[in-house]
Amino acid sequence: MRPGLRDERTPHGIHSFDVDRLRSHFDFPARGRIVTNNAASTQPPRELAALLTRLTEGYENVHRGQSVASQRMTALFEESYDIFAQWLNAPSRRTIATYRNTTEAVNAVMYSLLTDFRDGDNVVTTLVEHNSNFVPWWAMCREILPRFGRRVECRVARFDHRSGELDVDHLASLVDHRTKLVCVTGASNFLGTKPPLETIRSIASGSGYVRDDGGSGSLLLVDAAQLVPSSHVDVQRLDVDYLAFSCHKVLAPFGVGVLYAKEALLARSRPFLYGGDMIATGRVSPDRVEYNDLPWKYAAGTPNILGVIVSAHALRLLVDMVGVDRSRCWFGSSAPLPPSIVARTMELVRQHTAELAELALCEAMAVDGLTWYGPGPGLPRSPLLAFNVAGVDPFALAGALGREGVEARAGCHCATLAHRDLGLDPPASCRVSFAAYNTRDDVTRAMDAVRRMSDRLRR
Ligand code: ALA
Repeated sequence: MRPGLRDERTPHGIHSFDVDRLRSHFDFPARGRIVTNNAASTQPPRELAALLTRLTEGYENVHRGQSVASQRMTALFEESYDIFAQWLNAPSRRTIATYRNTTEAVNAVMYSLLTDFRDGDNVVTTLVEHNSNFVPWWAMCREILPRFGRRVECRVARFDHRSGELDVDHLASLVDHRTKLVCVTGASNFLGTKPPLETIRSIASGSGYVRDDGGSGSLLLVDAAQLVPSSHVDVQRLDVDYLAFSCHKVLAPFGVGVLYAKEALLARSRPFLYGGDMIATGRVSPDRVEYNDLPWKYAAGTPNILGVIVSAHALRLLVDMVGVDRSRCWFGSSAPLPPSIVARTMELVRQHTAELAELALCEAMAVDGLTWYGPGPGLPRSPLLAFNVAGVDPFALAGALGREGVEARAGCHCATLAHRDLGLDPPASCRVSFAAYNTRDDVTRAMDAVRRMSDRLRR
């Protein structure tokens, strides 16, 4: 252990979660902000701003220059793909593509697969989805493919209105031998439920769909925008075909989304975007175009170079901030992140944020007229709580909370289908959502403000 570092090992050798130490990396606590809109975006630690400044000293394009600066930037950019792969326990950088966000990543899958759908195929998604994992599939089935004379159905699985759990039996009943793709969220950004991905994997695998590669079974795409920030995700264990998340929900600045896809799929699929760098060097003629090797086949045009590097290093910094391995500094180093370190880090984040969500629910239950959505106390919930208070407009409540320094969000959170299915009019709720840097004090202050502002607005 380096001198000066406190040993926070418990008697069993497991590190406790030192939230005060973690918060010391951020500017927002000193400003008195109660940051509880983390399902939308998290706050950046100040080391990332410093990293961005350092990177601008050697500012250059990647894969497009022979200068030392370009070579160095290229190495950092390419290593970032390794970090994303290590974070997800993906086999290699060849399975990673970067986009602007989860939404763009899901659209990229849709456009890559578009021409593979056969007349009579279907896509199964759910009412629990963020619009980003419903609207692209709806548009593909209702607006795009019909123009090419192809009929593909978009089927939508229900959820239990009381518990917020996906109705897995209903989903299974929708999957059949013409289901090319099952699209499901890893964690709902409204209900806080986490669909059972292992079960859904086996439903998809057993569909009997005959794939172009001669194999059998439906593809599985997971929208992990709300899953990756608060849990360890192992894409090989889950055996997902596609998984997407946004780095701006995991401490990074805005502008980078990560798509994992099985290498064989990326190798076979058409690119989403065509242009520079996705082309094999010198392999373009009027009659023939050859694509670059993976993962650059999916990196057309100058990418968000600094954003990708900073986003990848945000993950390394999270490991240091949580502190499961104080023997070294992962941020800024190029040592591969061992899967066990990632898993231990994210298990501590999961436990801490789950405790905050449970506390929020307990406090919410004491607020007059409050209805919460999703699982009840003692049940697993991703770190957020959405609710309405009888007789109180959720937008007015979020506005009043904002004036009290509590950063909640009101709206449908882009989970429009679930809000409408619950009959909410307007289709809106107020939501608090938590990240690793939140404290129990944040939660009690936020929920106390919910109680006070609800009373005031009801008068
Ligand atoms: N979909 C993000 C949210 O839940 C933006 O707020």
